[in-house]
Amino acid sequence: MKLFVKKSISQLVASSDDAGSLKRTLGAGSLIALGIGAIIGAGLFVRTAAAAGEHAGPAVTISFIVAAIGCAFAGLCYAEFASIIPIAGSAYTYAYATMGEIVAWIIGWALILEYALGAATVSISWSEYANNLVGHRIPYEWCHSPLQSEIINGVSQHGIINLPALIILLLISALLIKGTQESATINAIIVVLKVAIVLVFIAIGWQYIRPENHTPYLIPANAPDVKQPDGTFYSYLPFFNHGWGGILSGAGVVFFAFIGFDAVSTAAQEAKNPSRDMPIGILGSLAVCTILYVLFSWVLTGVAPYTDFMKSGKEASVAYAISHYMTQYAWLSTLVSIAILAGFSSVILVMLMGQSRVFYTMSTDGLLPKIFSDLHPKFRTPYKSNIILFVFVGLFAAFLPESIAGDLTSVGTLFAFVLVCIGVIILRKKQPDLIRPFKTPLVPLVPILGIVVCAAMIFSLPAETQISALCWMLIGLVIYMSYSRKNSKLGNAYDALPKATDFEKK
Ligand code: ALA
Repeated sequence: MKLFVKKSISQLVASSDDAGSLKRTLGAGSLIALGIGAIIGAGLFVRTAAAAGEHAGPAVTISFIVAAIGCAFAGLCYAEFASIIPIAGSAYTYAYATMGEIVAWIIGWALILEYALGAATVSISWSEYANNLVGHRIPYEWCHSPLQSEIINGVSQHGIINLPALIILLLISALLIKGTQESATINAIIVVLKVAIVLVFIAIGWQYIRPENHTPYLIPANAPDVKQPDGTFYSYLPFFNHGWGGILSGAGVVFFAFIGFDAVSTAAQEAKNPSRDMPIGILGSLAVCTILYVLFSWVLTGVAPYTDFMKSGKEASVAYAISHYMTQYAWLSTLVSIAILAGFSSVILVMLMGQSRVFYTMSTDGLLPKIFSDLHPKFRTPYKSNIILFVFVGLFAAFLPESIAGDLTSVGTLFAFVLVCIGVIILRKKQPDLIRPFKTPLVPLVPILGIVVCAAMIFSLPAETQISALCWMLIGLVIYMSYSRKNSKLGNAYDALPKATDFEKK
């Protein structure tokens, strides 16, 4: 059936080296840096404190391990695909080769939630931190969405547009147009800075850990309610707010911190030796980040009692912990904020780059208009796509609050993870003899566990998020039926030459 027409893997691999395609400039080190660039961001610096304060307490370290296990299952499946099909486009391309065009379209459409909305979410966090750093000098209305309002010093404030978020998106889009190598170099510098700050905080903070802050390690059901800044009380009694239930929902909150390791796979077409370097890039960046996250959260909850994060310091948690409990190092807190801003920038960079590469591939397949794959004559980057993306992501960043964009990002990502895990099982059955430079261990157990863990996380997200994601997917299907299906190069070839051998029928 035409809807399920599949690309042949050999054809995919051959086309990746076509003249006129993206430049191969990235080695294993750059790919790990790209992964870390996308991974460490708002999830670590904003959500660790939220997960500790609201759900898991000091055991947020275990929440990180639970989320990492879920990501590792999916990461192992990504690595197998990325080593076989080292093409820009990530999960979208894998689905095209294994499950057919319509599934590929669905996944590509879901990836927009991950990358484009992910970039918008982090740019909104960037705006908040930038405003913190300049002492809240940016007027409220120019750094908040029209859907936000607050009473500050007795005066009601309303947002109009989030300008700082737009500015950072504009700068990063310009950098991406300039070139992948330039972007990767700047990304590598930021990654060093970002990791250095995390390590410095761990090393210095370690001396300030107070064992009583880690005792009890799990929040007890009878933990006293905490008074929040708005005067209401937060209770730890509900199942997901203490003990193991709290650890699980904490894992859901910090899952955002791992989003991005799969972005490495979107750069496969720019990797020098993709079969070897893709798995190293994906799994290496995931492993490095997991270790850093566990150590970081151990120190953060050891330095400050978790209940502090319900009262204050939730957003700028690191700066808060330093200025309140590590007073000899108060100078470090400004430095940390600057590094965090740089860190957020690199997350936005990799997300935007990933999105433009997915669009690039979908466009070369005819599923999106050609404009998304037009390369700049000199820089060889998909510059028109970068410009359109800036407008699209900018609209979300300028006019939506962070919470709405953030949860949708997680749903899109988890959905893509589930489909990639299914794809590995299908490909092992249909093409068992394919050369797999990297093999997911224990198939089908690992992919099945990946599907179960990721699906569970989807269902643990708020119902409104699930409904919004469903609406998004329906819009995508309408576009597919009315435009993409008719313009699909593979689909049209299938119609013209139903017996051709250069693609595989279902
Ligand atoms: N993992 C990325 C972050 O935490 C999306 O900002």
